[in-house]
Amino acid sequence: MVGRLQDKVIIVTGAASGIGRAASLCFAEEGAKVVVADISVKGGEETVESIKDTGAEAMFVRCDVSNIVDVRAMVEGTVRAYGRLNCAFNNAGIEGVNAPVADYPDEIWDKAIGVNLIGVYHCMKYEIQAMLKSGGGSIVNNSSILGAVGFANASAYVAAKHGVLGLTKTAALEYATQGIRVNAVCPGFIETPMLERGGITTNPELRKLVTDLHPMKRMGKPEEIAESVIWLFSDAASFVTGTSLFIDGGYVSQ
Ligand code: NAI
Repeated sequence: MVGRLQDKVIIVTGAASGIGRAASLCFAEEGAKVVVADISVKGGEETVESIKDTGAEAMFVRCDVSNIVDVRAMVEGTVRAYGRLNCAFNNAGIEGVNAPVADYPDEIWDKAIGVNLIGVYHCMKYEIQAMLKSGGGSIVNNSSILGAVGFANASAYVAAKHGVLGLTKTAALEYATQGIRVNAVCPGFIETPMLERGGITTNPELRKLVTDLHPMKRMGKPEEIAESVIWLFSDAASFVTGTSLFIDGGYVSQ
């Protein structure tokens, strides 16, 4: 069977865990060759093993997206290994801490912006350069519902995710006639290790509080994000660029 992403070479950042890992597996199932990029070597190699177990192709690249030298090497390594870059899911992200603006720790502010916003800029810069050389491509950035609305005590995360949407729209305009589509997904709360760390999936009271924020009264699953990214990558979305696709059980419609 020919997959929806047959033979496409795809970079996934933050692919050692959560949404990035699930997406990598789904892309591979659709016929893609996946470059699994992450700062976590152990988790990244596990993702690659899981993909290879299914008979599909993947390779791991250790990359800190906040480090431009790492990002450049990630893209160059991809082109060296597979000859081209067709698609990229810029997904790596960190949560920061819970604190109001006046008390927010400066180093954590810088780190959250460095990974969640500047990291996406670094990735897009080199991905676009590679895609221009091979005749086009499709980029999907992982923003959040918090790219569109505020959330108390999460200023650095919220500011970064709003920035990702601005970056997405601007790059979409810049490359619209050069065969590169740039879009964003905006997930609601998704059950991943990120939420586990915050106690949201494990503490029953917190869990209820968060599920109740969504009109569907549940959190999302990583595979529900992957499915939308597959569509945005595929030729089925050939007239879609600069868009922010909310996959949030109705959260931002309230
Ligand atoms: P996760 O914590 O399970 O996975 C994040 C991955 O990013 C990890 O493998 C981590 O090692 C990697 N990473 C962290 N810093 C990195 C860096 N500097 N360079 C490269 N890799 C790095 O988290 P999850 O939930 O899968 O999050 C993935 C993306 O989805 C993030 O951008 C997050 O902001 C976004 N998101 C998550 C939501 C959720 O409810 N889980 C909701 C909306 C957006």
